Amino acid sequence: MSPCEEWHLPMRRLGRRVLVFDRLESTNDLAAALAQEPGNDGVVVLAGEQTAGRGQHGRSWQCPPGAGVLMSVLLFPPPALRRPALLTAWAAVSVCETVLHATGQQAQVKWPNDVLVHGRKVCGILIEQARGTVAGIGLNVSQSPESLARAGLPAAGSLACFTDRPLDREEVARQLVEQLDEEYDRMCQGDLDTLEARWKRRLGLLGRPVAVECLDGVRRGRLCELTFDRVVVELPGGRLFAISPEMVRHLEGNDGMIGATNHA
Ligand code: BTN
Repeated sequence: MSPCEEWHLPMRRLGRRVLVFDRLESTNDLAAALAQEPGNDGVVVLAGEQTAGRGQHGRSWQCPPGAGVLMSVLLFPPPALRRPALLTAWAAVSVCETVLHATGQQAQVKWPNDVLVHGRKVCGILIEQARGTVAGIGLNVSQSPESLARAGLPAAGSLACFTDRPLDREEVARQLVEQLDEEYDRMCQGDLDTLEARWKRRLGLLGRPVAVECLDGVRRGRLCELTFDRVVVELPGGRLFAISPEMVRHLEGNDGMIGATNHA
């Protein structure tokens, strides 16, 4: 299958080759197939439409043709960067910066890998690691609130729901590649602190009452530490509960947040 276009962007580590397709089953599947060839490190796959877009937990990802950025990045990160917590934070923070650039709105990360604007999910992230690492990103750009509601997604959002600025899907995709490249380059140079600080701020939960869902149940308390190594919650009574972020399935403000998705 050949792309309808190929971009060559002036990036450091990813996006020097961007394969653009009108339609694919799933950009993640194509990126995973490209992982057979290590020379494809940093290749980005973009599609105008997916016929079998995949979401988390085996769900599907719905986006009308031309309405969103459907992107997968193939990487072969060094071992220290192959941690799901880091990779999801990298993708989510890059999306937040892109949203800010495109709309002027501050986006929030919803644990572990959704991006919300004003409480509505505008983006989902699917990181898959096998031969290489594939970071799949679905960012809603131009759907109207009415079309999202008609699609059975009344609580989802798109960039167009939050700005009057004109939005160009390809320009948003380029901006996202630039953000991903900049953040990834910093990580490769050993600076994880910048990403950690941005991730913490975008999660917005530090010091707040939270519910932490792990494999063995839910704990409620005050989030007193959040790093790529530890999530620490002060339980009622003062005892501390500490766990690695990879073991946390959900972390949310105890006031709760309404789920809003592109899942069928
Ligand atoms: C989620 O469930 O929230 C994650 C959705 C991820 C969707 C993106 S769209 C581009 C890439 N290709 C896929 O098949 N899925 C991801």
